[in-house]
Amino acid sequence: MHFAHIGSLLAASVALMGSSVDAATPAAWKTRTIYQIVTDRFGVANGVTPSSCGAGTNVYCGGTFQGIISKLDYIANMGFDAIWISPVVTNVDSQNAYHGYWSQDLYSINSHFGSASDLQALSSALHSRGMYLMVDVVANHMGQQVNGNYASNNPSAYKPFNQPSHYHPFCTISNYNNQTNVEQCWLGSSQSDGLPDLNTENPTVYNGLYTWVKSLVGNYSIDGLRVDTVKHVRKDFWPGFNSNAGVYCTGEVLSGDPAYVSPYQGVMDGILNYPIFYPLTRAFQKPAQGFTEMKNMINTIRSQFKDPMLLTNFLENQDQPRFPSLTGDRALAKNAITYLLTGDGIPIIYYGQEQSFNGGNDPYNREALWTSNYNTQSEMYQHIVKVNKLRKAVKGLTTNNPITTPLTSVYDDSQAWVFRKVGMVVALSSAGSSGATQNLYVQASSLPSGQLQDVISCKTISVGTSGTVTIQLTGGQPAVYYPSGSLGGSGICGH
Ligand SMILES: *[C@@H]1O[C@H](CO)[C@@H](O)[C@H](O)[C@H]1NC(C)=O
Ligand SMILES: *[C@@H]1O[C@H](CO)[C@@H](O)[C@H](O)[C@H]1NC(C)=O
Repeated sequence: MHFAHIGSLLAASVALMGSSVDAATPAAWKTRTIYQIVTDRFGVANGVTPSSCGAGTNVYCGGTFQGIISKLDYIANMGFDAIWISPVVTNVDSQNAYHGYWSQDLYSINSHFGSASDLQALSSALHSRGMYLMVDVVANHMGQQVNGNYASNNPSAYKPFNQPSHYHPFCTISNYNNQTNVEQCWLGSSQSDGLPDLNTENPTVYNGLYTWVKSLVGNYSIDGLRVDTVKHVRKDFWPGFNSNAGVYCTGEVLSGDPAYVSPYQGVMDGILNYPIFYPLTRAFQKPAQGFTEMKNMINTIRSQFKDPMLLTNFLENQDQPRFPSLTGDRALAKNAITYLLTGDGIPIIYYGQEQSFNGGNDPYNREALWTSNYNTQSEMYQHIVKVNKLRKAVKGLTTNNPITTPLTSVYDDSQAWVFRKVGMVVALSSAGSSGATQNLYVQASSLPSGQLQDVISCKTISVGTSGTVTIQLTGGQPAVYYPSGSLGGSGICGH
């Protein structure tokens, strides 16, 4: 924690120095809504015909940075003001490296996705729309040694880490209860298919990674980083990495255990919220199990993490089976997505969620988005539009901003949960689309009184002066209420 403290002081001073250029500080990220992209699977440039890229394709399909630029309207019109793109650096020469997590040369850009100037063009195109660019980075390992990259303990093909001393000696991770083993052994099952594990105790390596990340962020005007495999590197490495990046970082610590994950927010601004991911996924399965587990986890997170509102929330990503592969009921998916967009923390929607893609485990969860024809009329695209309009309407509020206010639970039963965040009242159902109409009698003195409008259905309710109201949910649909009188000019429900 000693190092963590120094790290956060450094991060704070870097943020102050950069404030003249609209620095993407952690605070500036709190009201952002992130759309996650696997670059190879999102889009191709105008005029280019993409490969068919059928389900489970495990090779490059042709998506590029120019492809993302050509589809920024699709993303912005859904209400997103930030994107996270998969890793950008040159990977080992293997068709299977389309995901980008197998670095070979940290100092050049993966030519499958375009050139350095294409990436700069993407960054500029985003900034001219007021959007942020988050880039995925890997500091734990380099790419799998295809084509003899790491043959005979000779890493000369990797840049800039080309000496045997830059790597931990080969061993496989055999005991996840031994943190040294997790940090210093290799991911993978053998030296030939494992991921060469950078020796982040070696000053040449950790200083090299700090120099690199600063240079990458600067060259491409990056606003934030998603950091891979954080639990596989010693904690004391991360404050220096985060402060050299000089922008908001959110790290992957793949574990559902808050006691294991929470200390990492002492060494990095934000963490991907795996502790809430598992209860959230379970809360919206059949049969409905109620919301006690969700509520308990939210309380545990509040008591253990440094700043829960800087955690990044998700329902799907490139490593997890898509939610509709677990539950086909769209009403349940819609409720879970509504929690992402209204609950505590920064929401991430994984590309394809808006099209209800239903691929299972990797590689089936990495479908090509062009197979959807970028349908902006799909049920989930339109749902996200509606809730994001409210996020946008309140984004600039400096007081009573529901996005940055922690939720307060006001009602729950075996198939419904209602919480409020100052003026916003969110009602979620786990009854499913064929469930009976639910009448939720809510009484909470903290409820905003007067007329509230559901930004999804546009129906209104009136809250009595003593905070009593009956909320009716039909067909298992969620509702997100906000005072009608405060929606003027938002474009929501005709305002
Ligand atoms: C933990 O893992 C390290 C690295 O593999 C190993 O050297 C050490 O013996 C292990 N400790 C225990 C208690 O097993
Ligand atoms: C950033 O740009 C400089 C100047 O062109 C170059 O020397 C450096 O290698 C670049 N850094 C990265 C990470 O690409």
